[in-house]
Amino acid sequence: MEQRSKQPITYRFPAGFWWGSATSATQIEGAANEGGKGKNIWDHWYEQEPHRFFQGVGPEVASDFYHRYKEDIALMKEIGHNSFRFSISWSRLIPDGVGEVNPEAVRFYNAVIDELLANGIEPFVNLYHFDMPLAMQTIGGWENREVVDAYARYASLCFQLFGDRVKTWFTHNEPIVPVEGGYLYDFHYPNVVDFRRAVQVAYHTMIAHAKAVAAFRRAAIPDGKIGIILNLTPSYPRSQHPADVKAAHIADLLFNRSFLDPAVKGEYPQDLIELLDEYGFLPVTKANDRELIKENTIDLLGINYYQPRRVKAKENMPNPDAPFLPERFFDYYAMPGRKMNPYRGWEIYEKGIYDILINIKENYGNIECFISENGMGVEGEERFRDESGMIHDDYRIEFIREHLKWVHRAIEEGVNVKGYHLWTFMDNWSWTNAYKNRYGLVAVDLENGLKRTIKKSGYWFKSLAENNGF
Ligand code: NOJ
Repeated sequence: MEQRSKQPITYRFPAGFWWGSATSATQIEGAANEGGKGKNIWDHWYEQEPHRFFQGVGPEVASDFYHRYKEDIALMKEIGHNSFRFSISWSRLIPDGVGEVNPEAVRFYNAVIDELLANGIEPFVNLYHFDMPLAMQTIGGWENREVVDAYARYASLCFQLFGDRVKTWFTHNEPIVPVEGGYLYDFHYPNVVDFRRAVQVAYHTMIAHAKAVAAFRRAAIPDGKIGIILNLTPSYPRSQHPADVKAAHIADLLFNRSFLDPAVKGEYPQDLIELLDEYGFLPVTKANDRELIKENTIDLLGINYYQPRRVKAKENMPNPDAPFLPERFFDYYAMPGRKMNPYRGWEIYEKGIYDILINIKENYGNIECFISENGMGVEGEERFRDESGMIHDDYRIEFIREHLKWVHRAIEEGVNVKGYHLWTFMDNWSWTNAYKNRYGLVAVDLENGLKRTIKKSGYWFKSLAENNGF
């Protein structure tokens, strides 16, 4: 059932706008123990503690993209994609992170890239999406500078192997998330809870990024662009009271600007450095790191946006004994009257996407950017399936449309936005939530051999892309 829009187009996007979706290796590939892939931290953590994963489901099958990529790419084309983001699995390409390249992995990623191009879909490749090779984690993961160098080598190999066809590259996806999950709040492996180590991990991730950008410049890929994908969650203070404003500012420094500023401006915010210094949390650095960061800024910024951060000052703060810096300064609060996603419990605040974009225009040189993720997770979405098998996800269509209105407005106001990628193409496996929340334009039926069915939103997305607007 196709729905071609006969409506006049009210929101038209610039010619050549990128319409597509984003995915990540661990979340879609499956074949976790096939094709010569080495273990990564997700395979390992699942083996150790399966009970920490929703319904005890791990990443070994995911959406089985590894075996079904042809069918999936045909569906991408069918629903109007002109671009698509996937990540390379470091531990598939280099099973122990640092040694030999796995030829089966090279064959697989070559096949995916060629299939995308043959279908008129531009491949956007991300190098790191939360999936540290286990052998690298065993020697300390991002805490160890050797892992930073192993990552730079991995990046450089990817540019050599695939750079003849892939022009758009990203070093990391949401690098703050492994910091928060793995080193602060215990929702990713290695489940450390330690602010000092978290700062070191964040810092080394950024050094790894800068080294990958340097390798990219050396590779001199014609028309190539490199960027980073950041979840730039806007921090809104509860009130204009100076303590609330300060709380929001600190949240912004720690969770957004700790990556945004060095990636785009080539330097850390001075007030972030002072804040960390004041509390004795500055990371261990090396000579020349500053130059490395300065010389290796990005070409293109990917922005992931889901929901804002609502922040208020600590009531009786600062507490000198609080183990973490964030906890010394702020708490989160639920803004009264806020709009919620009824199926997942996240706030929906569409204007947040516009606020991010205007900030990029005004404070980050209006760097070329795109929405690299936005989307709506829905628990129990199967209940919206009709007899024909189609999921009627009108809420997702509305979610996308309302966000796009704000993106459109930002473009009208001169923000350099090149595209919009939804999270995500098809329902997939999501870290410890496994299949709990569905995000896809295409449903993956877990009860029926992972059968793919385009959702109502998929048809809507098709008309959006074909009309370059709605
Ligand atoms: C951000 C991440 O990049 C992705 O891995 C995750 O599944 C989605 N957001 C949805 O939460």
